[in-house]
Amino acid sequence: KTKIILDVDTGVDDAMAVLTAALSPETDLLACTTTWGNIDVDQAARNTAAVLQLAGRSDVPVSRGAAGPRDGSPAWYSHNVHGVDGQGGQADTSFVPELSGETAVETILRLTREHPGEIELVAVGPFTNIAAALDADPTLPERVRGVTVMGGAFLAPGNVTPVAEANVIHDPEAAQVMVDADWRVTFVGLDVTMTDMITEVQRERLAAGGEIGQYVARILDFYFDFYREVTGERCAGNHDALAVAVATGLVVPTLAPTVRMEIDDTHGPGRGQTIADLRPMTNGWKVLNGARHCAVLEIEPGFTDRMIDLLAR
Ligand code: BDR
Ligand code: CA
Repeated sequence: KTKIILDVDTGVDDAMAVLTAALSPETDLLACTTTWGNIDVDQAARNTAAVLQLAGRSDVPVSRGAAGPRDGSPAWYSHNVHGVDGQGGQADTSFVPELSGETAVETILRLTREHPGEIELVAVGPFTNIAAALDADPTLPERVRGVTVMGGAFLAPGNVTPVAEANVIHDPEAAQVMVDADWRVTFVGLDVTMTDMITEVQRERLAAGGEIGQYVARILDFYFDFYREVTGERCAGNHDALAVAVATGLVVPTLAPTVRMEIDDTHGPGRGQTIADLRPMTNGWKVLNGARHCAVLEIEPGFTDRMIDLLAR
């Protein structure tokens, strides 16, 4: 079992990631930490706790994290993609979450001290909490097994601008701090999350399932409408759960080079771009030039279908 801390901005696909982590026998979900991004951080915490309750996993602590970008600029949200409540209009407005009492940073630091070298940090929202945890304790990289994130677009186009993916462009300064730290970050980006799409047939399987499946089918309804505008059909990228799957070994990437990575944090048209050095050099040359992170470029499709089986209960 892989121990993970899952950092989320619980929109629709984050909810599926939380459920996958909470229900999959391969995963030991120690905590969820929440961030701003798709919606504000309080709604993210509410959605996360609600989804854990639905999974029968209210034992997993939920901590509240950053409310906006690292540079102090105003937060902005993806309500058009995930709904104003982040759950495609399906969030229970009367639900009052019980939060851990710790901040996201406190949870990350405490758990990595309790389980040194064992925890995979999985971040599937803007990386503000991860950067703040590094500020609070620069020795954090010594205590984690690794970091896996949903973020970036390498050969694929972006989804917020021509070059930038949402989690990175929400807080490029935080993403840069994360890649500058002395650890290996595995980027599960749009190159792969837009390949194993969730289909209408799969959504119907969820709808015919149990309570969890029916809930996921309902939140996907809104998400599919957004993707229909983009792709022409009702379907959706399976972003965040794929990062959980890579982090916990549910999916082994077929192409995932070690790369030097830079984040464009300028204020020009390149802002938020993940620049991986994919030039065909030898490994020795690459390592000498700072290659340390991993850009997942290819996976075998099939995980999404297995995830649907897991959630259709
Ligand atoms: C990422 O952005 C958010 O909208 C999703 O939850 C996912 O984490 C995809 O670019
Ligand atoms: Ca997310």
